[in-house]
Amino acid sequence: MSGARSFYATTAIDYVNGAPHLGHAYEKIATDILARNARQRGRDVFFLTGTDEHGEPVADAAAAEGVSPQELVDRNAERFRALTGALGLSNDFFIRTTDAGHVERVQQVLQRVYDAGHVYLGTYEGWYCPRCADFKTEADTGPGNTCLIHGIALDRHSEENYFFRLSAFQAQLEDLFATRPDFVLPRHQFNAAHAFLGGGLTDVSLTRKELTWGVPVPWDSGHVFYVWFDALLNYVTALGYAEPGTDLTARFWPATFHVIGKDILKFHTIYWPALLMAAELELPRHVWVHGFLFGPDGEKMSKSAGNVLDPFEVIDEFGVDVLRHYLFREVTAGQDGPVSLDGLRTRYATELANEYGNLASRTLNMLERYSSRTVPAVALDPALASDLDGLAARVDGLLDRAEISTALEEIWQSVRRLNRYVEEKAPWQLARNDDPALPAVLASLAEGLRVVTVALHPYMPTKTADLLRALGRPDVHAREFAENGWGGVTGSLPPLFPK
Ligand code: MSP
Repeated sequence: MSGARSFYATTAIDYVNGAPHLGHAYEKIATDILARNARQRGRDVFFLTGTDEHGEPVADAAAAEGVSPQELVDRNAERFRALTGALGLSNDFFIRTTDAGHVERVQQVLQRVYDAGHVYLGTYEGWYCPRCADFKTEADTGPGNTCLIHGIALDRHSEENYFFRLSAFQAQLEDLFATRPDFVLPRHQFNAAHAFLGGGLTDVSLTRKELTWGVPVPWDSGHVFYVWFDALLNYVTALGYAEPGTDLTARFWPATFHVIGKDILKFHTIYWPALLMAAELELPRHVWVHGFLFGPDGEKMSKSAGNVLDPFEVIDEFGVDVLRHYLFREVTAGQDGPVSLDGLRTRYATELANEYGNLASRTLNMLERYSSRTVPAVALDPALASDLDGLAARVDGLLDRAEISTALEEIWQSVRRLNRYVEEKAPWQLARNDDPALPAVLASLAEGLRVVTVALHPYMPTKTADLLRALGRPDVHAREFAENGWGGVTGSLPPLFPK
C-alpha cells in the first residue's frame, strides 16, 4: 500500500493507429496539471502516460498501410512520445504496451486471475466494433448493425474466447459505488457508471482467438489477451519496470487518479475494478472523467471525423503555455466543448496579453522605476493579503477533485484582483507625491504576482518559470502570500505574451 504522501496519476494510453491530435493532448495536459500541483505540495509523485499498441485498431491500420503492426507502432509511438515533450509534460515514464516488461507482467497477473478460477472457456457470439475494440450489445448497435460511435459496420463474431467472470463481481462493485462516492468524478460520470452497473453485468471476453497481434495467453498458445485487459494493466505493470532494478509498486499503487475520456468509462469504472479485485490488488482512489473537445464542425475531434487540430502546429505558432491555458479556460474540465484557433487567439489577447502579461510587465517596470529593482522589506497590505491568503489551499481543494477549470478560474480572479489593485493604488501617483505608502504597495504587488504565478505554474510551466526567475524567486513550492523571502534584485523580462 502506497504512503499517504504518494500521488500516482495516469492518462489513458493512446492507440497509435494515427497521429496524435488535440483531444489526446488535452487529457495529457490535465494529468500534468494534477501531477505538478501534487509536486508543489511536496507529495511523492509518479506520472505515467504512454501508448496502447495491440488489438485491431492497430492491426487494421497496419494492414491498410501494408506494413507490419510492429513497424507501424514503432513509427507512431515516437510521434506520441514527441508529443509529451512538445506539451511540456512532466511524466516519469512513457509506457508502450509492446514493452517486454509490460507483456511479461500482463501474463503474470492474468495467469493469477485464471488460477484463482475467474476465467472459463466459452464462445462469443455477437457484434464487435474493430475501432472501439469493443463487443456491442443490441442497445449500442445503430441501424443496420453499425457502431454508434464510429458509424462503421460491425463485425459478426462467433469465436472461442476465454471469458472473465465479470458478473461474479456485481455485488462487490455495487458495494464500491455505495461506499465511495468519489471513486468516479465528476458526479454525472459516477451516475453514468452506476447506471451501467445497475443494468446487470454479463461476463466479458478476456482473450481473442482470431487475432494474433496481442499478448500471448500463457495457458493457451492459440489465444492473445483482449486488448482492453492488456491495456488497463499498464497502470500496474509500469510500476514494476519503469525504474530499472526497483519495483515501485508498493510506493505508488494504488493510483490516485486515472484520467480518462468519457468514451472509455465502462472499461475503467467496471471492468478494471473487477479485474483488480480478481487479482487481489487495491483499487485506484479516483477515476476522473473528462469530456470531449469538439472540432470546428461541432463533432468530437477524432481521426475518423477528420476534424482534428494538430497540437504540434498550435504549439509552434503560439507556444505550449498558451495552448495549456486556453484548453482549460475554454472548455470546463469534465464537460464537452468546442475549440478553435480563433477562440485561442481571443483568449490570448484578452487574458494572457492584457490581463496576466500586463500585470507582470507593469509590476516589473514599477519595481525597476520606483524601487531600484528590489522588493521593499515592509509589511504587506492587509487588504490584499485577505484576498490572496489561502489561494493555494483553495486551488488544492479543487484539484483534489480534479476541478481543473474551477481552480484556474479561482487563480484568474486573483490575477484580476491584482490588476484592480494597481488601478486603485496608482503607484505612479504615490511615487510622484513621495507617498510613504508606496513601498507597501510595491511589495504587496510583487508578492501577489509571485503567488498567482506559482499557482499558475502547473498550468503554464514555461512562462511562469521565466517570470519567477525575473522576480528573483524561482521556487515553485513557496505558495503562501507572505512577506519573507524577498531579497536580491529582480530582473527584467521581455513581454511574456507579446500583443
Ligand atoms: N487505447 C484506449 C485507452 C486505453 S487506457 C487503458 C483508447 N485510446 S484512444 O487513443 O482512442 O483515446 C485515448 C484518450 O484520448 C481517451 O481517454 C479518449 O477519451 C481521449 N480522447 C480522444 N479524442 C478525444 C477528444 N476529441 N476530446 C477529448 N479527449 C478525447 O481509448
